[in-house]
Amino acid sequence: MTITCRTDAASRVSEQEILDAIALNAPLIEAVQRGEEAYRPYLGWYEINGALIDRIEAEARRIQSLASVMIVIGIGGSNRATIGVYDALKAARPRATSLLFSGDSLSAQHLQEALKLIRSSDVAVTVIAKDFNTIEPGITFRLIRQELERKWGSSASERIVAIGSAGPGQLKELAHQQRWSFFAFDEDVGGRFSAFSAVALFPLAVGGIDVRAFVDGGRQTLGMLRSSKGSENPAVRYATFRFLARERGIAVEALTLFEPTLHAFGRWWVQLFAESEGKGEQILLPVIFDYSEDLHAVGQYVQEGPKMIMETFLDFGHEETGLVIEPSRIEDGFSYLDGTPFSLLNRTVYQAALEAHRAGGVECIELSVPRPIDESSLGSLFSFFLFSVYLSCRLLGVHPFTQPGVEQYKRSMYTALKKPGYGNEEESR
Ligand code: PA5
Repeated sequence: MTITCRTDAASRVSEQEILDAIALNAPLIEAVQRGEEAYRPYLGWYEINGALIDRIEAEARRIQSLASVMIVIGIGGSNRATIGVYDALKAARPRATSLLFSGDSLSAQHLQEALKLIRSSDVAVTVIAKDFNTIEPGITFRLIRQELERKWGSSASERIVAIGSAGPGQLKELAHQQRWSFFAFDEDVGGRFSAFSAVALFPLAVGGIDVRAFVDGGRQTLGMLRSSKGSENPAVRYATFRFLARERGIAVEALTLFEPTLHAFGRWWVQLFAESEGKGEQILLPVIFDYSEDLHAVGQYVQEGPKMIMETFLDFGHEETGLVIEPSRIEDGFSYLDGTPFSLLNRTVYQAALEAHRAGGVECIELSVPRPIDESSLGSLFSFFLFSVYLSCRLLGVHPFTQPGVEQYKRSMYTALKKPGYGNEEESR
């Protein structure tokens, strides 16, 4: 499947400038395509092999036989890919077990929902954390585990699947001691790069998603992006355009979505770019616009406000639903739409927003995926953005795979909550 990246002839960034920048950066682009030695410890996701799929599917079947709902505990890179794919496809996939997401806030109200569910239903739990120190998933897991144990006693352990690291206090050790099932969170794969590992594939398989098709879509596209020549490579074009747009005063990139079911996918994209790139000045702030709704919220600002936003229109292949607008027995003012396939309206608003915003001087590019939203097309798109962000960070000169800034709020939390080793020793003596 070939994703295309189309720019506009009237853009502040000309086609020639894109081609010149690609030519200038050819050695770096080729090094990124090969996978740079310096980043080897973070590039475990760069060969998508689906090695664990048999085991993942077997474990998913076991959980499906025990539970009508699985609570997925995780935060950031440990859950966003899963929510993105699951929300996009859940309505269309029959499933024995649905997923409920928890552990990505400290809202007592939200946690109560999960605890109530355990009392009323057959529940399983997966806890996912590369570093099992983060308070949100860690403490959520404790309360959920205690509720499971109140209900199922010692057999609660067969309902828990942990995905994490080895080391003292980490999930591998705990899983071993407590007889929970366990998948390793690969050392050389960061959270936000983990979509094709057990981190996302296990919960998705439990939730009825065809993880083989997702992995195949991802593998095929990543292979293409790693081998196709710079100027013909859609991810190279995308990363280069963003880089040049930023130099021309663009400060915000909005991914514009036309399917509400893609909202969580958009949130995965936001995290991927914000956490990978956000390490300096003059970096694009990634946001999502959910159209049509946001056309009636931020649309005014986009059209007539400061021209510092670029919009990346995400365009999936058309899916015919068979829904056609029938004539109405009352004159409601919409008869001009009689006989129109409903899906044509979404195509029309896409074109209308694109044309209006371009006419208003907004930088708009189009990313087109040539098939409807399914496992394979989503797999492709995940690979597309993973490759793009690696290259984009390298063009910017920032480390793609770290997130040192996230640690600051964690340290403040630990101090406020008196975690040993965070400056409270005097006080507690
Ligand atoms: O992409 C990342 O590495 C981060 O977003 C992490 O996934 C996030 O901070 C959560 O990490 P952990 O699950 O190890 O607590």
